[in-house]
Amino acid sequence: MPTPNTSLIAAISGSPSLRSRSTALLQIALARLEDAQQQTVHVRELPPAALLAADAQVPQIRAALAVVEAADLVIVATPIYKAAYSGLLKVFLDLLPQDALRGKTVLPLATGGSTAHLLALDYALKPVLTALGARHILDGVFATDAQLQPHEAGYLPDAALLRRIDRALQGLDEVPAPRCRPALARAA
Ligand SMILES: Cc1cc2nc3c(=O)[nH]c(=O)nc-3n(C[C@H](O)[C@H](O)[C@H](O)COP(=O)(O)O)c2cc1C
Repeated sequence: MPTPNTSLIAAISGSPSLRSRSTALLQIALARLEDAQQQTVHVRELPPAALLAADAQVPQIRAALAVVEAADLVIVATPIYKAAYSGLLKVFLDLLPQDALRGKTVLPLATGGSTAHLLALDYALKPVLTALGARHILDGVFATDAQLQPHEAGYLPDAALLRRIDRALQGLDEVPAPRCRPALARAA
């Protein structure tokens, strides 16, 4: 699959945890894509007072919003907290302009303690992404904690999870605008 130079991926990590399974899931998905510039926004590293005051003028927050604005593909990762996405992710999404995701492709990712809230991506996160203008939302990928086993500095995904990530990313082939199509990394 040819990859245009303009392709930029914005990855948003909405976990408050430093050692984070949902961030690991995000990194695994990013590693499956090639030849595209990738920039990650770790919301936990943004100034908390500015986030809570919805102050988009603070330089770090402006820079994070600019990453999303410039992107063709936006990957949003969150832990499931109380049957929904994290509050940390929401305070960042609330700072985005109303149509911030229009014309972009979006991949939602989540991790949860069990499958009890497997559908949280559909009933909680996707309506927010749609409200922000997203019309090309790839199949969401939900992983339980057991599917991401601790390993050295990070987490190892199980084979079924990797297959679901790849299947979701195959949806990039159906995205109409060529500039929204980062290539899948070739199998090793
Ligand atoms: C405050 C809190 C609330 C949680 N609520 C849920 C929940 O409602 N459903 C669920 O499946 N897991 C829940 N979990 C478990 C986390 O979603 C799960 O461990 C996730 O992988 C954490 O992601 P992280 O390491 O990126 O923060 C909760 C964890 C915390 C700390």
